[in-house]
Amino acid sequence: MITIKNDEISIGNFRVRELSEKFGTPLYVYSEEKIKNNFIKTLKTARKYYKNFNLFYAIKACNNPHIARILINEGAGIDAASINEIKLAKLLELKGNKIMFSGNFLSDEDLKEGYESGAIINLDDISLLPRLLKYGTPNIISFRVNPGYGESNVGEWVTNAGPKAKFGLKPNHVLDAYRNAQNAGIKRFGVHMMPGSCLLDPDYFHKITNMLIKIIIPIFKELNIDIEFINLGGGLGIPYEKKDTPLDLDKTMKGISEIIISKCTQNKLKLPALYMEPARYFVGDAGILLGKVHTIKRSYSTIIGTDISMNTFARPAMYDAYHHIYIDGKESHPRQKFGICGQVCENTDYWCRNRKLPKTVGEGDLIVVSDTGAYGYGMSYEYNGRLKAAEVLITKDEAKLIRRRETFNDMLKNVELSNEMIKNLTK
Ligand code: LLP
Repeated sequence: MITIKNDEISIGNFRVRELSEKFGTPLYVYSEEKIKNNFIKTLKTARKYYKNFNLFYAIKACNNPHIARILINEGAGIDAASINEIKLAKLLELKGNKIMFSGNFLSDEDLKEGYESGAIINLDDISLLPRLLKYGTPNIISFRVNPGYGESNVGEWVTNAGPKAKFGLKPNHVLDAYRNAQNAGIKRFGVHMMPGSCLLDPDYFHKITNMLIKIIIPIFKELNIDIEFINLGGGLGIPYEKKDTPLDLDKTMKGISEIIISKCTQNKLKLPALYMEPARYFVGDAGILLGKVHTIKRSYSTIIGTDISMNTFARPAMYDAYHHIYIDGKESHPRQKFGICGQVCENTDYWCRNRKLPKTVGEGDLIVVSDTGAYGYGMSYEYNGRLKAAEVLITKDEAKLIRRRETFNDMLKNVELSNEMIKNLTK
């Protein structure tokens, strides 16, 4: 998504140097065009093989409504993990079956508000059904199945199925869950799974589809259920490292579709709608994080100190995740190995070690961290008095501020200040 000309880095028509001067750093920058193209490519490819296919955007990955708006304009629904994410979807005028509520370990308030919102509720455990029914009988419901296996290219922490995961129903709870729902008078059903994130191998998607189908078909036959939708969750991966082979989307969608069509036909089941709810695949490679080098420390090793800390961008510290890094104006220079850190008082904020970067890197240089559009700003937090970054959207002719930088006042906004503190504040 970036272009480099004479070592100068740009996004669309904007040089990162200009963006940093106008908006400051650290700064999340997204490309509207890239987000749109990622979505259109996914929808087109899937519909080649499965006509009744629709996409939801898992808004947790990047929850700025301006970003979700781009996807909704192209036809996306929203996958919401919480009531506040349902509210974000409503802010964007979505309703009913365009919102999928896939929370986990939901409280009674969550279930009540989820029910009242009219979203499709996707239950994460059999025990949630009677608690949900206290508030009414939904027209349609789905259960999240943990097929017993999941994977992730970004470590076991992002593997969402199998015995170690907290998500979904064990296969031997699935029959009872749907039977209980039928007995409660629910008439329309879907099924859901989300076994892992950032997968680059089409065979993985074919394997999990087969596993799900094997679990659900005998159950739906026994209960005489015409399943309305199968939602395969997200998980479409992006190549973070140059050595990664990008996902073959065509092969992935072709295989998934063939499995569902052939198994449903063999078992004389009506073909359900097919849904997926990716996030990383739409926004991950459509965002960068722009920061500034403040300090070069030549100590036990040479460490580049930047204003990108673990609170600004958590993935490297949390998962040891790899993100490619560029230094503006110096990409063609000879390289040596450096460590990179932020400004927070934790050694996990020494978030990148032994990275080959231009030898000439120095104070004031701009650092560009790539592929930060997903799980970047959304996972950022305030710590050490280091506040949340700003967000900018690049359109054809504009670099538009879509979230301002946090301020000291934002940091205090929920504090019950005493009169004395207020006095001191205004001194
Ligand atoms: N659907 C559900 C129910 C989910 O929980 C998720 C992500 C998605 C869809 C979208 O998954 P994707 O297409 O992005 O793989 N923080 C981690 C990723 C956690 C994934 C959480 N669930 C990371 O930075 O890699």
